[in-house]
Amino acid sequence: MTELIIISALGANNRVIGRDGKLPWPLIPEDAQRFQALTLGHPVIMGRKTWEFDLDQCPLANRCNIVITRQPQQYQGLERCKDYAYGLSFVTTLEDAIATVQDRDKAFIVGGAGVYAEALAIADTWELTLVEGDYEGDTFFPDYFSLVETQFRLVNLEAHPGFRYETYRKIS
Ligand SMILES: NC(=O)c1ccc[n+]([C@@H]2O[C@H](COP(=O)([O-])OP(=O)(O)OC[C@H]3O[C@@H](n4cnc5c(N)ncnc54)[C@H](OP(=O)(O)O)[C@@H]3O)[C@@H](O)[C@H]2O)c1
Repeated sequence: MTELIIISALGANNRVIGRDGKLPWPLIPEDAQRFQALTLGHPVIMGRKTWEFDLDQCPLANRCNIVITRQPQQYQGLERCKDYAYGLSFVTTLEDAIATVQDRDKAFIVGGAGVYAEALAIADTWELTLVEGDYEGDTFFPDYFSLVETQFRLVNLEAHPGFRYETYRKIS
């Protein structure tokens, strides 16, 4: 079975994840390094806006990238991506995205909001970075609190100046 892992950084106060297509806060180098370390070599599944605006249509390197869009034909064969060695595909549903990673030991759901909302309950693990501070934005991580201790359990908490990592696992 493929382990499905949600990975997200969200405002600790308001669950904000995005602003004008980008992250609401300046780069947090330790968190970016952790994202790399966890996801490198594994498939990453994302919504079209994250691909288009946050990544500027550049695949995350050394990872197979799967983008969900209702109009996959619009993106197939993009000149800048067509030789991407690790695989770049466009699918119409999260279900299809998950089907393409069935032979992998794990896959990461990397956002944005709608994809997280759909994946929240079916994921096995959530890797959350809670960012402290008052950041505003237009995109929010779904309200997950009702799932905590009913379907998911906090299994690790690591505090750092300005942010903390929280890992949740599905209760079996
Ligand atoms: N803080 C974080 O960890 C984090 C992570 C990722 C993204 N973000 C931020 O989040 C923002 C982007 O997120 P977003 O929520 O606006 O957009 P998004 O989820 O990245 O993309 C939304 C698009 O994905 C496609 N899509 C999503 N779910 C679908 C479904 N079930 N069926 C078919 N198509 C589906 C649709 O594309 P079409 O319109 O092409 O049909 C939809 O318009 C950016 O600001 C980004 O920086 C933050």
